[in-house]
Amino acid sequence: MKDVSQSGTDRMLDLAMSLPEQIEQAARTACSANIGRPGRFDAVAVAGMGGSGIGAKIAQGLLLDECQLPVYVCSDYDIPAAPSAKTLFVAVSYSGNTEETLSAYAQARRRGCRIIAITSGGELGRSAAMAGYPVIGVPGGMPPRAALGHLFATLLVSLERLGVCESQQRGLEEAVRLMRSRRKSWLVRARTIAKHIDGRLPIVYSTSRMLDAVADRWRCQFNENAGVLCHTNLLPEHNHNEIVGMGRPRHPGRNAVVIALLDRETHPRTRYRLESVLDITEEAYYLAMQIESKGRSRLARIFSLVMLGDFVSVELARLAGKDAMEINRIDELKRRMAQKRG
Ligand code: F6R
Repeated sequence: MKDVSQSGTDRMLDLAMSLPEQIEQAARTACSANIGRPGRFDAVAVAGMGGSGIGAKIAQGLLLDECQLPVYVCSDYDIPAAPSAKTLFVAVSYSGNTEETLSAYAQARRRGCRIIAITSGGELGRSAAMAGYPVIGVPGGMPPRAALGHLFATLLVSLERLGVCESQQRGLEEAVRLMRSRRKSWLVRARTIAKHIDGRLPIVYSTSRMLDAVADRWRCQFNENAGVLCHTNLLPEHNHNEIVGMGRPRHPGRNAVVIALLDRETHPRTRYRLESVLDITEEAYYLAMQIESKGRSRLARIFSLVMLGDFVSVELARLAGKDAMEINRIDELKRRMAQKRG
């Protein structure tokens, strides 16, 4: 039975802990969902904002080296010029009511794309069902960012079933096993990391294309769960610009905590670049951490870092005395946007 006295932050931690179970459940649902036959597509375009878009970005990073088709992630009102009648378009909105995603979806309909929707309901669920597009449901009642396992695995298994990529089953299974067996120890590690970051500016660096979306996930979770600003950038690109700006203006230079995310696919020269950057800019940060992904498959490695980052964000919320569920500013903004339309 659910503990009624449970705080929002405890609830968020429970949801973060449930990432492997979410993936497992969603993969099963998506396997049996009626999504039609595989197609010969010229591209894949996925529309989604915030917590609904990040799963698409993670899938994009995962498939970059596996999939022959370009995968676009649309996080705006308008979709790019490329999607055509031969494009698979996936609209992902947890609530089903996000106006940018609904606008992108309407454009994809006009272009004649093959469409599927992933949502817990709302306007997207209604409209797609009415139009006869496959709608794959995810369970409601969660903050969208805490439903990443559902949204991501539903998307990935759908792409696999529609012939966009090879089977992802082994990777998903390994990711689930790894998270289940390591989540308690990762939480302990997350508490230590959060203590170092508390009261400082986290700067998260990705060191491989596959990890770019993972760094993004860390930033979004720091923003929404912990209510703090977070900066992200990508190596090696960082070395050609940001290295000069690090720690300037002077305040709050020494207040930054650098978190570099690394993976076995990180280029050996990028590792050397990172070491050199941390050495050259030593006066620009308070502390630098290098965090290696764990696991064998790319999926397991991605989710080892996603889960750790989610835990750090929740523990950071706890230290800051913020309710990790509370995102009043997003709610207020959505209210204002709805009023303006009406
Ligand atoms: C809230 C969250 C937000 C939403 C975003 C889009 O937990 O993570 O970033 O995901 O505002 O809303 P949905 O996901 O309903 O399309």
